[in-house]
Amino acid sequence: MPAFTRRSFMTVAAGVAAHLVATPTTAQGQRALRDAADKTGLLYGSAAAAKFLTVDEQYADLLAKQASILVCEAETKRKALQPAPDRYDFNAADTIFRFAQKNGQKMRGHTFVWHDAMPEWLIDALDQKPRDTIITDYISTVAKRYRGRVHSWDVVNEVINIEDRAPGFMRTSSPWYKAFGESYIDIAFHAAKQADPDAILFLNELNTEANERWSANIRKGTLDLLDRLLKRNVPVEAVGIQAHLKTFRTAYSDEVFSQFLDEIGSRGLKVMITEMDLADSDGPADPEQRDDAIASLAKRFLNVAFSKPHTLGCITWGITDKYSWLNSTPKYQRADGQLCRSLPFDVNYQPKRLVDTMLASYGLRAK
Ligand code: XIL
Repeated sequence: MPAFTRRSFMTVAAGVAAHLVATPTTAQGQRALRDAADKTGLLYGSAAAAKFLTVDEQYADLLAKQASILVCEAETKRKALQPAPDRYDFNAADTIFRFAQKNGQKMRGHTFVWHDAMPEWLIDALDQKPRDTIITDYISTVAKRYRGRVHSWDVVNEVINIEDRAPGFMRTSSPWYKAFGESYIDIAFHAAKQADPDAILFLNELNTEANERWSANIRKGTLDLLDRLLKRNVPVEAVGIQAHLKTFRTAYSDEVFSQFLDEIGSRGLKVMITEMDLADSDGPADPEQRDDAIASLAKRFLNVAFSKPHTLGCITWGITDKYSWLNSTPKYQRADGQLCRSLPFDVNYQPKRLVDTMLASYGLRAK
């Protein structure tokens, strides 16, 4: 018997046809995600990198057409913005802000205070137990420069870390914590409120979404911290759920995720998915199978997120697999050398199943 019969050809052809029909992004032109988001009042956005924006027209075009909000992948981190104590460099960040303005897109600010992406001089200075101005001067300078153009700021990033085994699951290994204790968070939020009262002020957190014991601890640490901040009248207004989902590695539960979002909402805070991508380093070799698993997890995850009235939208951490940070991050790289398929568009800027499920999730909210 021939390996590929007419019958099997017909089956494959029908499958291909069905897939084409189910891929409205290709048929309907290029603004699909942005249009779908606009219809709902939710945002869809992407992280953007100035170094690619300036040289890759297709990438720039995709971002302009698909995203209603952008966030700088590196350009507004302190390492980029303040290379020396007395020197700021806004060039790369300005490139992205200008691009967003030209394309009628909102901007997120990421991030004022993080234990990572710190210039060397800052790590040294924190070691010397500096004054609050090391936080407040920076926030005031940056927030005021972009005031009126920023939808929301990640005021602090990744302040919980279970690996530190500290009370409240706080990231006590952070140079910020070592210098100030928990009060660095209060100082940062107050400074941000003063410098840009209209931006929504976020606490952005990592690994809060898994149905795993360690992730439950991160959720508990986050909620307990929010309670302490709110009690101290710290102007935290929203929680960023990074959502670097580990498609084949960690368990996910709609119910657990939904409850966490409700807990945040019950404190009067907004929620946004701020850095979604779906890692597939330990998935099967077959890209189709990986795409299916990624799309079905994203569907469950976003349907829960978008069912909440206090959810503002979803940002993916990049838009094309070509430039995903996962490809250059050892713990996310595939052993077989294939690139990850974690973002809506593939390396040739073609929409994948993830785009279809995202469109459907936005569509549910529109009704
Ligand atoms: C990542 C960038 O994507 C990489 O290019 C960079 O090398 C390291 O940082 N959580 C965050 C983001 O809040 O700022 C990180 O971005 C990814 C994890």
